[in-house]
Amino acid sequence: MKRKVTVIGAGNVGAETARRLAEKNLADVVLLDIIEGIPQGKALDITQAGPICGYNSRVVGTNDYADTKDSEIVVITAGLARKPGMSRDDLLHKNAAIVKGIVENIKKYSPLAVLIIVTNPLDAMTYLAWKISGFPAQRVMGMAPLLDAGRMASFIALELNVPMAEVKATVLGTHGDLMVPVPSQTIVAGKPITQLLPPEKIDAIVQRTANGGAEIVNLLKTGSAYYAPSAAAARMAEAILQDKKESILSSVLVTGQYGLNDLYIGLPAKLGKNGVEEIMEIPLSSEEQTALQVSAKAIKENNQKLF
Ligand code: LAC
Repeated sequence: MKRKVTVIGAGNVGAETARRLAEKNLADVVLLDIIEGIPQGKALDITQAGPICGYNSRVVGTNDYADTKDSEIVVITAGLARKPGMSRDDLLHKNAAIVKGIVENIKKYSPLAVLIIVTNPLDAMTYLAWKISGFPAQRVMGMAPLLDAGRMASFIALELNVPMAEVKATVLGTHGDLMVPVPSQTIVAGKPITQLLPPEKIDAIVQRTANGGAEIVNLLKTGSAYYAPSAAAARMAEAILQDKKESILSSVLVTGQYGLNDLYIGLPAKLGKNGVEEIMEIPLSSEEQTALQVSAKAIKENNQKLF
């Protein structure tokens, strides 16, 4: 059987994720949206780039969940995006209704799938998807801390004028205003940035990272970021499809790690064919630990509005 990945939502993030997955040539891709024509048109366009770029993934656009049957991975991007001045939390109830309907369909057609949630507010939507699906927590995760760490790493690489790939940034906690960039675990070619940059530069980078999504929303004026978000979602799917067992920052269900319970929150996790195979505990300063608890509290407040 050919491997299949479904992307729900054919907006900018969904279509870019489908394109990136097709280019990785790891599976066939189904792009589903409720709007007629959009997923079909975008899938056809991605397909026609195959012979030019040299990939062979079959990409199908559809409005019918039957076409998603037996997907190994489902990436959920559907939902409203922020407008300038809005916080991700302003999307809570509208996007919860959308995610709920999607997860019910996925459960019916792909009961063994791994779910990667992208819809905001991310940590609450991932918790909701886990609850509604009834899937083991291993098979439900959220994309965002990898995106936030990508933003932080790019700012550092530009500041220090080093190759992007040399920077390993760590961002934990919520994908929201209270995210927790972790300078003590942010490394450039083996050295922590605390040895490479003065504290005021690090503070500025931390602030810009926490505001990274809003900076782009304000520039675009309609819609939010999609190149880096889709890169993160596709990279997570790749780690699972290829059973890489790679440590990737993901929103995961905590069961006592870092003193936290019963919420989805951004942490380093090993991703492989079973989904989240392990949550890694990394050393944090006492300030970073406190920030993580504050972040967790904000996520729980959102979760409580849903249940
Ligand atoms: C962002 C959206 C995806 O951070 O939350 O750009």
